[in-house]
Amino acid sequence: MRILVCGGAGYIGSHMVKILNSQGHTVTIFDNLSTGHAQAAPAAQLFAGDLLDKESLARLFKAHNFEAVMHFSAKSLVGESMTNPSAYYTNNVIGTINLLDAMQAHQVHRFIFSSSAAIFGPPQQKTINEEHPCRPINPYGRTKLMVEHILKDYHHAYGIRSVSLRYFNAAGADPEGKLGESHTPETHLIPNILKSLINGHGGLKIFGNSYETPDGTCIRDYIHINDLCSAHLLALNFLDNNDGVFGFNLGNGNGFSILEVIAAAEQVTGHKIKFEYAPPREGDPARLVADSSLTRRLLGWKTQYTGIEEIISTAWNWHQKPRY
Ligand SMILES: NC(=O)c1ccc[n+]([C@@H]2O[C@H](COP(=O)([O-])OP(=O)(O)OC[C@H]3O[C@@H](n4cnc5c(N)ncnc54)[C@H](O)[C@@H]3O)[C@@H](O)[C@H]2O)c1
Repeated sequence: MRILVCGGAGYIGSHMVKILNSQGHTVTIFDNLSTGHAQAAPAAQLFAGDLLDKESLARLFKAHNFEAVMHFSAKSLVGESMTNPSAYYTNNVIGTINLLDAMQAHQVHRFIFSSSAAIFGPPQQKTINEEHPCRPINPYGRTKLMVEHILKDYHHAYGIRSVSLRYFNAAGADPEGKLGESHTPETHLIPNILKSLINGHGGLKIFGNSYETPDGTCIRDYIHINDLCSAHLLALNFLDNNDGVFGFNLGNGNGFSILEVIAAAEQVTGHKIKFEYAPPREGDPARLVADSSLTRRLLGWKTQYTGIEEIISTAWNWHQKPRY
């Protein structure tokens, strides 16, 4: 299939591109390299451009006869979205509308969207399924939910089929060590743990230790990046036989507390990890764990990486020899 991967130079998108290439798809990457890395994208496949630049999108769609689009591009720092919502609504909502309009103009009707657990807001049950109310508590989550609403209208009016995949915490790296997670600033726990070991200065902060969880630290659901990518392939096949607008949650279903992740990282790396407690961050719920049973049932999705140690060891492999 001829597939456009927007944000294919970023953390998740670059892993997706590698897998699509290995399966013989014809892939084009569209990325403004704002948080992505040119080194993570095969040069011949990279079309540098910004979703806010409609002319650039028009040239891209004219030059390629795409059959499907996977959309990973977004600004995704929750804290930044609170202080600079304009940048988030512009990039994530208007950028996506521009992309969907280009699809519509060129008769491309399959769309896979990187949504987020942030659309749900504070959890009202132990695990979050697709029936959970959507009450995002920050602009980042609202941009993702707005796009999910827009997708309903674009299906109704223009026939664009879509699957929105709500990721919980993407983690780990390419098992061959060629790709990995490299964000500045880094806000994700596992890379920050591993970086604190590599830079030797420690400085790892844990935000809050009096949550209502067994050890007082937050519980999150970590899903290996390749498992996340495999769900995208299944979603694409699903759209061949199902005309509509779909949303699926993507998580392991296993929650790990921050202290459990640190203990697992000590096990994997063989090093003691130093950390200090800092005040809890505003809007951080105690526990965020996915119920992905619908995804498993309807997409036939199976996760390969279920243990946190396995996930961390692929990340550790990357962080010891990062290529960008
Ligand atoms: N990493 C996670 O745990 C996680 C969890 C939930 C949802 N998500 C979502 O998954 C997607 C990918 O996340 P990631 O961690 O790989 O992020 P990332 O920042 O590594 O990748 C995003 C890519 O999009 C590009 N981009 C951003 N705005 C663009 C624009 N206007 N035009 C063209 N390119 C643009 C960036 O340069 C980057 O390469 C995002 O939409 C994010 O919101 C990620």
